[in-house]
Amino acid sequence: MKLISRLKNRDAQIGVIGLGYVGLPLAMEFAKAGFQVHGVDTSEEVVRRVKECCPACKDVSPELLAKLIAAGRFEPTTDYDALRDCDAICICVPTPLAADREPDLSFVESASREIAARLRADQLVVLESTSYPGTTAEVVLPILSSNGLAVGQDFFLGYSPERVDPGNKTYTVKNTPRLVAGITPPCLEATVTLYSQIVDQVVEVSSPAAAEMAKLLENTFRAVNIALVNEVALLCDRLGLNVWEIIEAAATKPFGFMKFTPGPGVGGHCIPVDPHYLSWKARQHGFNTRLVDVATQVNAQMPEHVTHKVAAALSEHGIPIDQASVLILGVAYKPDVGDVRETPAAGIIEGLAQKGAKVTYHDPFVPEFSANGYRMHSQQMTEELLASSDCVVLVTNHSAYSHGRIAEKAKILIDTRNSVKSCNGRTTENVISMYEVTGQGQG
Ligand SMILES: NC(=O)c1ccc[n+]([C@@H]2O[C@H](COP(=O)([O-])OP(=O)(O)OC[C@H]3O[C@@H](n4cnc5c(N)ncnc54)[C@H](O)[C@@H]3O)[C@@H](O)[C@H]2O)c1
Repeated sequence: MKLISRLKNRDAQIGVIGLGYVGLPLAMEFAKAGFQVHGVDTSEEVVRRVKECCPACKDVSPELLAKLIAAGRFEPTTDYDALRDCDAICICVPTPLAADREPDLSFVESASREIAARLRADQLVVLESTSYPGTTAEVVLPILSSNGLAVGQDFFLGYSPERVDPGNKTYTVKNTPRLVAGITPPCLEATVTLYSQIVDQVVEVSSPAAAEMAKLLENTFRAVNIALVNEVALLCDRLGLNVWEIIEAAATKPFGFMKFTPGPGVGGHCIPVDPHYLSWKARQHGFNTRLVDVATQVNAQMPEHVTHKVAAALSEHGIPIDQASVLILGVAYKPDVGDVRETPAAGIIEGLAQKGAKVTYHDPFVPEFSANGYRMHSQQMTEELLASSDCVVLVTNHSAYSHGRIAEKAKILIDTRNSVKSCNGRTTENVISMYEVTGQGQG
């Protein structure tokens, strides 16, 4: 197969569709490995930011990005015609939920149609977006085959789920083992060869549906375990037990236990979304994923629990919530990223605003944020702001936050991540470490 030798010789051209948190690091990894890479994104804003080396994804080095662009190794564009010369094309577009919380594959479908319009012999197409089992074979393949080319002979189709963890400095595209599958054996061979050029370990899976299911299992595993520990935290709150102590105690068991921690709720493009893809697929086959659905509900209720905690803490200090000013620290869904998709901060801010609180926020990664129907701007983090707010809620424990200083200045600090405790060793009077019994503000 000519494609295989071009990939091995690294004189193949690679196309990456979607230059977000998944596509951009991937494109750069291929470019670093010596391939000529074309990055296609329908958003002019995204392409402009990539060209100016200030993309939303902060995991990539702006210096390296500039170098790869200047060397002509990586060409970001909005023009799908750039794919005509590509030997392999990776699809890294969003797979969100529609308004009815069902899978929205419109981005995958439209990217597939654009490829199909230009598909030629000996090209490899790989879907990387997370989706339910059957997406590659039942959704992408029919679109690509519509022009008469035969899969496994004329062109090749595979699935390889991205496992990138934004903000994770230890595991990157290169050193995270990569699942790969192909529609036919030649498709698998081509897909294995492609990823072997940039990742240390490639793991073959028997079919795209198996790889799609494995990806959903990975993320649903997290969602269910987070829900379990969130539920245990709520129970400990009632029982007067300190859940953080209990988790640390349980985590001393060297086998059969994996540590998860409670928090303000789940966010991002994966954990709150992927279980819905799984349960939707299950329903198509007359099966109810009861455990997964309950876990989704438990996690979705956590922001409401935070707002109750805030209201109770304010009330204990004699401040009615409708007269209170509340400062939210961190609106991104996880530390040290600027991604606000499905962030629990939105539910917390909306809940507090509905109760009449005056809510402001600070986030070093998110200059603007829309919640409760209006656009907010990140406040400057000053000691005055901390001290003048009736209540400060630490939602996202960005590493730039000086927890000690925040605890010292805030009148009341609700710490949804137990960060202050782990930073100071002991909680001060004004700090309510969520789920910890402090005698204050128990909801
Ligand atoms: N973000 C993560 O941590 C993560 C991790 C693993 C897997 N995933 C999965 O990877 C996929 C992509 O996620 P992401 O976080 O990179 O999304 P993203 O929103 O950061 O990036 C997607 C990009 O695709 C572009 N796009 C949308 N439709 C397009 C089209 N038809 N043609 C070209 N470009 C198009 C968007 O403009 C955007 O820039 C999703 O399926 C997601 O579930 C995400």
